[in-house]
Amino acid sequence: MKSNKSANTKYPVIELIKDRWSPRAFSDKPIPEAILFSLFEAAAWAASSRNGQPWRFICGIKDKGNNYEKIFSSLNEWNKQWAITAPVLVVGVSRLDFEPGQKPNSYAIYDLGQAIANLSIQAIANQIYIHQIGGFEKNKAIQGFAIPDNYEPVVAFALGYLGEVHLLPDEMQQSENKPRSRKELDEILFLGDFK
Ligand SMILES: Cc1cc2nc3c(=O)[nH]c(=O)nc-3n(C[C@H](O)[C@H](O)[C@H](O)COP(=O)(O)O)c2cc1C
Repeated sequence: MKSNKSANTKYPVIELIKDRWSPRAFSDKPIPEAILFSLFEAAAWAASSRNGQPWRFICGIKDKGNNYEKIFSSLNEWNKQWAITAPVLVVGVSRLDFEPGQKPNSYAIYDLGQAIANLSIQAIANQIYIHQIGGFEKNKAIQGFAIPDNYEPVVAFALGYLGEVHLLPDEMQQSENKPRSRKELDEILFLGDFK
């Protein structure tokens, strides 16, 4: 049976796009390393301005090294509550210049977003889900990983397989089963005047 999180679209859309959503109930089942690498390979094949590939990913695998702990400690309290079971936490970083001292790459953050969108779709093809996190302390990431000035930590994200909803804090359980919604196409698409 299809999950009610699958997008209910007016026009046909490929299943992988329909099935991507952002869970908070993650299983603690580890992601095999080869599959994890597939996700970042998919990210790496995104388009980017001047093929600058400004995306960087600081990856923390639970119980391996200390990246996971460092990323977890940068999350805000709300996000810590659900992210704690995810087996992988990542910080997405953009390189802000093409070459040292050159003019800034004004598409650096846009391009990181495209890479993460690719990663999201590859993840679904492997039954893995991503939940992106704006609620984290960038300065903690900068300090913890000694990120230089010409790079910016933009977003964190959790990766993992779906877990048990009843293990989440009560106030987070409802949204796990709630159908997803989107604006109507005529609010975002303009074939005539822009409104
Ligand atoms: C840049 C970005 C930042 C986000 N930050 C958070 C966050 O801090 N905490 C959270 O629970 N969800 C966060 N989300 C998840 C969004 O709330 C979610 O993608 C949105 O509600 C649409 O739901 P869907 O991804 O299931 O379609 C973030 C998503 C993005 C793209």
